[in-house]
Parts: sequence; structure tokens; C-alpha cells
Amino acid sequence: MTEYLSLPIDDESAERMRAGGLRLHLVDTSDGAAFGHWLEADSRGFHQPRPSAESLAAQIRGLADRRTTGVYDDSAADSASPVATVSSWLARLTVPGGTDTSAWAISAVTVASTHRRRGIASAMLTAELRTARRLGVAVAILTVSEATIYGRFGFAPSVFAADWKINTRKAKWAGPAASGRIHMVPLERAREDGQAIMERIRLNGPGEIDLRGHLWDRLFGLAGDPDRKKLLRAVRYDDADGVPQGFAIYSFTQPNPDFSAQTLNVEYLATATDDAYVGLWHYLLEIDLVSTVAAPLRRVDEPMVWQLTDFRSAKKDDEQDHLWTRILDVKGALEARRYRAPCRIALEVSDPLGFAHGRFLLDVAADGTGVVSPLDGEAPDGAAAVALGVAELGALYLGGVSAAVLERAGRITELRPGSADAIDAAFRSAVAPWLSIWF
Ligand SMILES: CC(C)(COP(=O)(O)OP(=O)(O)OC[C@H]1O[C@@H](n2cnc3c(N)ncnc32)[C@H](O)[C@@H]1OP(=O)(O)O)[C@@H](O)C(=O)NCCC(=O)NCCS
Repeated sequence: MTEYLSLPIDDESAERMRAGGLRLHLVDTSDGAAFGHWLEADSRGFHQPRPSAESLAAQIRGLADRRTTGVYDDSAADSASPVATVSSWLARLTVPGGTDTSAWAISAVTVASTHRRRGIASAMLTAELRTARRLGVAVAILTVSEATIYGRFGFAPSVFAADWKINTRKAKWAGPAASGRIHMVPLERAREDGQAIMERIRLNGPGEIDLRGHLWDRLFGLAGDPDRKKLLRAVRYDDADGVPQGFAIYSFTQPNPDFSAQTLNVEYLATATDDAYVGLWHYLLEIDLVSTVAAPLRRVDEPMVWQLTDFRSAKKDDEQDHLWTRILDVKGALEARRYRAPCRIALEVSDPLGFAHGRFLLDVAADGTGVVSPLDGEAPDGAAAVALGVAELGALYLGGVSAAVLERAGRITELRPGSADAIDAAFRSAVAPWLSIWF
């Protein structure tokens, strides 16, 4: 389980860093001082405030099971602090077909502004990809600060998310009535009940990862940031039989001294049933003193929009790429998911970094399982055939991006007519992939 913590640092990137007078180093997360410096450097890299002592202590506890890498410049005035950071762990990624697979989750990629643009991030990223392969992991994932950084490493967006803004002065509920009831609950209680709900729903739609430990505590303001915790309120939805089926965490932003026209921020909302979805959204949209409900990082196709009298009262403030996926092993990745229709597809994958490069034949059986074999020679008669880059395969992987669109954009090439449609018939997910957090 934690083999990834002790796997030695990647030789190739360590050598590259050494040639530039730098040290690529695996941080011992049980060494509080060293890990503390690393965490401070991570905050600095994202231009965030210095973590409080409480937050630092919570992160040292909560992130100890991450593979934590720093780049050190022993000639710097503060040589105990890394000039670059990256952390990673083995996550469970939900893939189409109600199942999941191991994915190498990469986070905290920062390079100090004193050391930028000399290849440090490239060395760290390629080290992460090689480490993932040594561990036998077929897919790497990350969420990104900028959409311009990771394409060069073979990543592409596979999950999109929307920030919704609802004008509650205009929005009137037109959806069904919920059968259960809302309970106000303390954050600790929501955290506990919420975990059980998440375990039940995690495999429902592609794109989600397992949320535990620090990632989970953070949502409830229980990861050591007392200012955040002060702002949060939690409610739980119980069905008519009293069984918890959903919860929401929210906060308020107050623009006026008389408490009016506040914005309610939906910090997190998870539901196991349509009834709980109705109950929680209906509740959130009818709270007094609120004129706007802001719901960031939600599904691009929220059903709630169809449950309001005024379709224009709910708008997308923003919609953008969210989870980026990198295929490292074509056979491992494609055999881990299920498909919507039987098919035969020849894939000529180009990968400048070499991991996924090659020609493959995907055979999908009537039960939706796929088998990938190496393809020598011509694609078999009747098979679809495309040539594509590893990033495009990553975009298609979770079923949220259309091969027909990528073909029209010139990002994949049909080697036989109609092949993009054949990919879409098999690969597309009925539910748009969604990831509910940043990591
Ligand atoms: C993004 C960041 C990690 C890049 O680090 P870096 O060490 O300067 O990157 P590298 O020198 O390895 O650059 C590799 C390539 O990516 C390009 N690149 C790096 N950062 C880029 C950015 N923000 N936008 C576009 N291109 C970028 C470089 O120009 C270089 O291109 P090349 O291979 O064509 O020469 C660094 O700028 C940073 O810490 N930014 C703030 C924190 C952040 O946004 N982290 C990413 C979190 S998801």
C-alpha cells in the first residue's frame, strides 16, 4: 500500500538536477522540521499565506502518506527550504462502468520564482511519471492552476466542471417535493455521516477519486485552518425512513451591513439519491437574506437547472477543464474501464515520452469489458482505426470528451471513415464525468 513512499528517487531526473547544482530529494514526512519547510515552500509557490502553526501541524499529520519530493539548492541562503515541490499518492479513480482503477495523483507542483524556467518542473514531472510506471500504475491525474503547463507531458483534460450562480430572487422551485427532512448538524457529524455516503456513491460516475484523510477533512474546515472552519455550516438530508442520503456544507458572504442580499456559497454537496438532491437544493435556494447562491466546481449538467421556474435564474459563471489525465499504459488503462457498446478499435498512439507509444487493438465484448493486444500489421477488417496522441487518448479515457469533436479539431486522425463515431459509441459515458474537489 505504501510501497510508493519508499521507492527510491528517480535516477534520471536526479542526475539532471545534479548537473544543474540541485538535489532532487525524497522528503521524510515523519521529520516534522523538514516536512514543515517543504509545506511552507508549497504555500509560497502558490502565493498563499504562510500556514499557521495549527495548519502546519494538521498538514504534517494529514499528508504524511504522500510521496513528498523537494528540489534543494544547497547554495541558497535558506537551503533547508526546497526550491521546488511535488507530492503524489495512489488514488482510486472512478472509470466508466461503475468501477475504479489505481491512478497516480500528482499535486503541489511548485518551483520558486528564483528558480523558474530552468527545467525543474519538467524534471519533477517526468520523474513522477516514471515512478508511477515503476509502480505499475496505468494512469496519472492532476488538477491544474493553468491549462498551459501539462499538455507537454501528455496530459489532457478529461473532466470539466462549472461554477453556477443562481439568482434566488428569480429562481422559484419547480421540482418535485422531497420526502425526507433536513437536519442542521455540526461539521464533525457531517464529516462522519458524509464519509459513509461518499463510499456508497463514489463509483456512480467517472472522474471522482476516493476522498479520505486530509482531502476529506479539508472540506469540513477540519484540516487546521480555524478561519475556514468558522465560516462553515452543515446540513444533512435524511430520507423518509430516517436514513442519511446527502449533505451540504455552505458559507455566507455578507456584502451589506443590514445582513441582506448575502451570497450563499455551496462549499460541497453530495447526494446518494435524487430525492436527497431535491431536498438539499430546494433548501439551499430558499434561505432568507440570500440573493445569490454560488455553487463552484459543480457538474456541467446540473439537473437543478431543470427544477427551477426560470431557466435563466441559474447561470454558469464559468466552465472549465478540471481533471487532467495521462495514460501511461494503454493496455492497463483501457482494460480497467467498461464500454457502452461492443467494438474493435485499432489505436496508433504516439507518445513523445515513450510510455504509451505503440499500436494497439481494443476488443470490446458484449458485456462491455475490453481486451487490448499489440497490433502488428494492418488493422483487422471491420475494425475502426485512428491515430492519436497520448494526450487525446487521455481526454477520451473517462468518456466525457467526444472523439468526433477531436477529429473535427484535427486532434485525432481517422484511418478509416466513421472511426470517431465508433469510439464515441463505445467510450462515451452516459453521465458526464465529474470530480468534486481540487487536489
Ligand atoms: C508552473 C511551474 C511549476 C513551472 O515550473 P518551471 O520549473 O519554471 O517549468 P520548466 O522550466 O520545467 O518548464 C517546462 C516547460 O513548460 C513551460 N512552462 C512552464 N510553466 C508554464 C506556464 N505557467 N505556462 C506555460 N508554459 C509553462 C516552459 O516554458 C517550458 O517549455 P519548453 O519545454 O517549451 O521550454 C512554476 O512556474 C510554478 O511554480 N508556478 C506557480 C505554481 C503553479 O502554478 N503550479 C502548477 C500547479 S498545477
